[in-house]
Amino acid sequence: MSAAAEVLSDLHLMLESPAEGAIVDDEIAVSGWCVSRSGERCAVRVRAQEHSLELPTGRSRPDVAATFPDIALAATSGFGGAFALPAGSWQISIDVRVGHGDWQLFGVRCVNCHTLEASNVIAEIGPNLDQLRPPKALVLDAIAKGRANGNGQMAAELYTGQDAEDVANYVAKAVGQTGK
Ligand code: HEC
Repeated sequence: MSAAAEVLSDLHLMLESPAEGAIVDDEIAVSGWCVSRSGERCAVRVRAQEHSLELPTGRSRPDVAATFPDIALAATSGFGGAFALPAGSWQISIDVRVGHGDWQLFGVRCVNCHTLEASNVIAEIGPNLDQLRPPKALVLDAIAKGRANGNGQMAAELYTGQDAEDVANYVAKAVGQTGK
């Protein structure tokens, strides 16, 4: 299982500001919280092309602690900071790291809309992936082109390149598809 997939399956992460993938200009305030089920601390980094900033973590979040009473670090799971960018128009991506792991693209996007048991999420905007059981090629196609066949909207290019491959591999394996 790729590291991206481990991140997908282990994390509860909420980005409260800005929306991931949002187009922003100059300075933005970033905030949210992140909890890993394994109980390790997560770190969060924002990127806009070559600019990146690791956000201070450890903010008090009694609301998150109440949601995850079994995870000690939930009480201080908040992150936030100001990300100053040169004037212009920037697309923001978010990376997360659990414990001493590698930085990974914040992979919660799929599970914001799709149920996937392996990631421990139930969401009902898009089709239930455990039931659909998409093979990797279909997942890659959906990620690249998006979907708007009348049952809601899924944007195109949520991930590209290796990130798309990693996510598609993870989803396909999670739903029991093998091969390509
Ligand atoms: C904003 C919500 C949203 C997000 C985020 C999202 N999807 Fe979707 N997805 C949908 C909806 C809605 C549909 C069905 C749209 C339609 O065709 O009517 C869909 C359809 C699909 C399908 C079915 C394609 C088909 O042709 O049957 C797959 C596979 C899929 N999504 C995978 C993913 C993966 C993987 C991710 C993460 C990279 C993702 N989705 C992120 C909402 C979302």
